[in-house]
Amino acid sequence: MNEEVLQDALANPQNVGEIPDADAVGTVGSPDCGDMVRMWIKYKEQDGKKVIDKATFQSFGCQTAIAVASLATQLIKGKTREEALDLSAEELSKPLGPLPPMKIHCGQMVEGALKAALEAESAEKASAPAPITSAPVEQAPTLHDALAAAGKKQGAKIKIVKI
Ligand code: FES
Repeated sequence: MNEEVLQDALANPQNVGEIPDADAVGTVGSPDCGDMVRMWIKYKEQDGKKVIDKATFQSFGCQTAIAVASLATQLIKGKTREEALDLSAEELSKPLGPLPPMKIHCGQMVEGALKAALEAESAEKASAPAPITSAPVEQAPTLHDALAAAGKKQGAKIKIVKI
């Protein structure tokens, strides 16, 4: 893993926070580590196509998840929904280089949150379970509420990393 890219992304994570008028939101939690990522997406029309205008995230996750989420929000800007859906966890985390085996799920969690948001028809309908590989969690007013609910259900240990 490229430590320099990791440290850069952690020192200055991009697109952190909520989009209040987001078109879609997706949340995924990892039952293995108790970490969680939520992503918001706002679309716009450009040259007759609907493209991603802005993507943001919040993470109660490890440093790798935060770095991948930051990179992912930058990578998908300007892409269509279909183009973004085609991106794998490896592609989203490419600037970091290959992730060590114990960190692969961190990138997959970001991919899951992104896909959950892309597959949500609207922010209101995002509460429907999304077909993702990681464990989806219920939508809640705040990430903290969702995290608390998921943690209670799974009996998971929860790690909170301030960014
Ligand atoms: Fe759980 Fe990285 S997301 S250890």
